[in-house]
Amino acid sequence: MQDNSIKHLVTEAEKSMGKAIAPYSEFKVGVALSTKKGKIYTGCNIENPSLMLSICAEKVALTKALSEGDKNFQAMAIVSGNKEYCFPCGSCRQLLWEFARGIDIFLYSKKGIKKYSLDELLPFAFSKPL
Ligand code: THU
Repeated sequence: MQDNSIKHLVTEAEKSMGKAIAPYSEFKVGVALSTKKGKIYTGCNIENPSLMLSICAEKVALTKALSEGDKNFQAMAIVSGNKEYCFPCGSCRQLLWEFARGIDIFLYSKKGIKKYSLDELLPFAFSKPL
């Protein structure tokens, strides 16, 4: 992916982070998921006072895309309000592995951009036996 496309994806993720509803953790996350055709779905985390009902930004973006019928993904950018990189949680890794296995994942922080594949982030993933 070209540098300007990666920057654009990060900018969209940052915009979405601005919509995060995270009064309990005060940890805002924003995500942008691009399709191979160039459409971008964004997501932010949405927390609930019943804390286990909170939804991660990655799940919001992915389910928005899947529910619109999009299945061919290219990349995801993940940003947070923290100065460290925000790695996706285990359950988001499993969902992404299932539905967006080939994507590049770009983590952005003030330190720069890091790129990962899902095989790196989730080796030995669970896969339904055939
Ligand atoms: N969170 C995400 O949205 N994505 C991640 O990759 C890690 C964690 C959210 C969940 C919760 O609202 C907050 O960050 C703190 O865990």
